[in-house]
Amino acid sequence: PMETALSQIQPQSRPDRLLLRTLKGETAPRPPFWLMRQAGRYLPEYREVRAQAGGFLDLCLKPDLATEVTLQPIRRYGMDAAILFSDILILPHALGQKVWFAEGEGPRLDPIRDQAGLDRLDVAHLEERAEPVYEAVRRIRAALPDPVTLIGFAGSPWTVATYMVEGAGSKEFLHAKGWAYRDPAGFQRLIDLLVETTVTHLSAQIRAGAEVVQLFDSWAGALAPAEFARWSIAPTHAIVRALKDRHPGVPVIGFPRGAGIGIQAYVEQTGVDAVSLDTSVPPDWAASALQSRVPVQGNLDPLALVAGGDALRRAATDILSTLGKGPFIFNLGHGIVQQTPPEHVAELARLIHEWPSLNQG
Ligand code: CP3
Repeated sequence: PMETALSQIQPQSRPDRLLLRTLKGETAPRPPFWLMRQAGRYLPEYREVRAQAGGFLDLCLKPDLATEVTLQPIRRYGMDAAILFSDILILPHALGQKVWFAEGEGPRLDPIRDQAGLDRLDVAHLEERAEPVYEAVRRIRAALPDPVTLIGFAGSPWTVATYMVEGAGSKEFLHAKGWAYRDPAGFQRLIDLLVETTVTHLSAQIRAGAEVVQLFDSWAGALAPAEFARWSIAPTHAIVRALKDRHPGVPVIGFPRGAGIGIQAYVEQTGVDAVSLDTSVPPDWAASALQSRVPVQGNLDPLALVAGGDALRRAATDILSTLGKGPFIFNLGHGIVQQTPPEHVAELARLIHEWPSLNQG
């Protein structure tokens, strides 16, 4: 059942390498598209593979299964990019922190809250522990049709740190922010370690075949302005610089979710090649304030995709007509939710593929 040949992929209107052209600043005839969490529980074929895998981390660390679920949405919908099936918490796992997914409860980690915890992390064996991820990247690239771009990813240091320090998802970030305010020099050591290891992890994905990388800063919006500058912008800038040194041609997309108007400083100061907009960012504001500097990606409300029909068409058309005039990658403002009917994703894919003719009126 793990047949990874993509003979089943529909040869839809998929002009050559649309995503890479857009990331170089071109305005394509129609925007390329992919969707955050495009592989996942809303797809019955994902749930089937997931059930065979054992735990969620096992799924991420079995290259044949990770390859299969990465390709599933591409087969169905003909996205312009595949995103490696993995997780931002593979990094702490590969650093030797205990990470597990309690069924129905989300991620759990054995929390790190001080220097002694940092000292237990094992940076030296990161690439060895994450090797199955890089093997999946090689297999996915080999199985993908040439025009489909492969995106690798990591969490940003701040977002990954929240999980490592809290030991779970969080709303208040009591421990992570507590550490950052109480002992900034100590917290800086954790962030520096994450900058260095994120570069290692992304560089290994690129060497294995990832052609673009995205940095997910899902909890950027929890930070006050000075802390956003220190714990989100500065580490992201350091990662971008190091990646540009090693892999000058590989674009980096940043996703500072919830950053508000801070997204402007993020674009100006991090050096990212493109920025992903969360659901709250007004497209007309982004067109004038951001798109003149970098290509933008986003930002359909994932719940409009659950609703489908007219609501979906209206929301998607609004974004396409505003941002589609410049370098633009159609995506969601956050990940697909589990309740999304797979037919609605097909409707959206049709709308985007037909956009050039619809737009002509
Ligand atoms: O986008 C993709 O299709 C690629 C795969 C991907 C996953 N996680 C798979 C996944 C990506 C890019 C991520 C990133 C990720 N992981 C983020 C940043 C993006 C965001 O959503 O803000 C974060 C914060 C995580 C950490 C994480 N992983 C959480 C909080 C959870 C539990 C939430 C949930 O939906 O249960 C996960 C699990 C996870 N990661 C799932 C998937 C498909 C669901 C696991 C399952 O099948 O049970």
